[in-house]
Amino acid sequence: MNNEHVFPENFLWGGALAANQVEGAWNQGGKGLSVADVAVYKKDVDVKDYAAHAAITSASVEQAMQDPSDTHYPKRRGIDFYHRYAEDIALFAEMGFKALRISIAWSRLFPTGEEQEANEEGVQFYIRVFEELKKHHIEPIVTLSHYEMPLALSLKYNGWVERTVIDHFVRFSRVCFERFKPYVKYWLTFNEIDSIFRHPFTTAGIIPDRCPENQQQTIYQALHHQFVASALVTRDCHDIIPGSQVGCMLTKLTTYPHTCHPQDVEKTLIKNLMNLFYSDVQVFGEYPALVQKQWQKESIHIEMQPHDLDILKAHTVDFISFSYYMSLTESASDGMEMAAGNTILGVKNPYLPSTDWGWQIDPVGLKVSLLELYDRYKKPLMIVENGMGAKDEVVDGKIHDPYRIDYFKAHFEQMKAAVALGVDLIGYTSWGPIDLVSAGTSQMSKRYGFIYVDQDDEGHGTLERIRKDSFYWYQDIIKTNGASL
Ligand code: BG6
Repeated sequence: MNNEHVFPENFLWGGALAANQVEGAWNQGGKGLSVADVAVYKKDVDVKDYAAHAAITSASVEQAMQDPSDTHYPKRRGIDFYHRYAEDIALFAEMGFKALRISIAWSRLFPTGEEQEANEEGVQFYIRVFEELKKHHIEPIVTLSHYEMPLALSLKYNGWVERTVIDHFVRFSRVCFERFKPYVKYWLTFNEIDSIFRHPFTTAGIIPDRCPENQQQTIYQALHHQFVASALVTRDCHDIIPGSQVGCMLTKLTTYPHTCHPQDVEKTLIKNLMNLFYSDVQVFGEYPALVQKQWQKESIHIEMQPHDLDILKAHTVDFISFSYYMSLTESASDGMEMAAGNTILGVKNPYLPSTDWGWQIDPVGLKVSLLELYDRYKKPLMIVENGMGAKDEVVDGKIHDPYRIDYFKAHFEQMKAAVALGVDLIGYTSWGPIDLVSAGTSQMSKRYGFIYVDQDDEGHGTLERIRKDSFYWYQDIIKTNGASL
């Protein structure tokens, strides 16, 4: 067989979920409130107004804490994965999944984040999930932090701003490693660690109105704590689970110059380097000069303990994982037409079509990203999120979604081409293999799945799961390891 045209043997085909977007059961099994449980569904806000969707205040958190229902808080209900995980995993197995990426809801194990012992009911829930995956020979890939820190830590310490949160996260992670050791080899530390600047509350529990004046500095400080925590848990994971593999996780925001004008090119390069800075720290174990210079220029002072930089250097990751949805363009000129992206705007690219949510569809950008990341890091890569949010229609109990198949097909072809050029790609988990609650807008109607879930934005519906046309298409791709493309 001509190896140039196939994915590697044992390629980890699958899908990716986050606890707060699927589990529901927000107040069951001893779970504490998480930052996701206070995210309000803002029906009348433009879906491209990311800042407005992510906006949070002390008052809105207080109001949410007084509200005992899930009416305005879709992430409290998710898609009821907490009770339906066995049915859902059976559907993933039917598609032939080799891997499933999930996250552990920190506040299910440590309701306020500060307990010394884990909540056993929470631990047992994940053991049941891992047992189910094992039964179906599906490899778990587990994210420790995916937008769901305990709300109590956010309120008490302004999220990751205070250093003490590192200890709480390390304790939580150690429990995960010790208790889930028999099941889990692949771990990711922080989902899209770079997103802290785009939505500081979702990513790091920072409520902006509680911040001291210099927000840039506050966010960099919290980020530094996350980097140190990531390195410490990478160390612990390697110690506790021999042979384990730990990855960083980056939102890959590949950006093209809008024109070949040198100023567009220069601005674009800086933007791309600033995107790669996060994985640079976790792979190379040091802060790039570009960022250190920025701190100097903007009088940003990061509090570090003497051993912090040694910790970063000593415990780097084994592989790089990333999400890829769209590409952006950048221009040095003013007044350019903008296009939407994953909680970010960029200059509109005239060559690309967009999804219903305005994200520019760019399969070639995935190949560009793979080549760039592999060339830079020379470590295995895993695509742990990719997909398109779309409106689906149920007609006579069926969902015909050729647009989704087209999207995936085009992206898989580019992955294949990157592998043929020598990129060490070890896995691919599509985002939201089953419809789930949107992270950015809390909508259900922004559907990513191969499996439809009967629930609308207001939470009405039977929660019935229905296989879409794309379900059978992806099944075939996995069965043939991409040869049927
Ligand atoms: C990624 C997140 O940024 O994008 C996911 O890790 C999220 O949690 C996904 O769901 C898609 O974004 P959205 O806003 O369409 O749900």
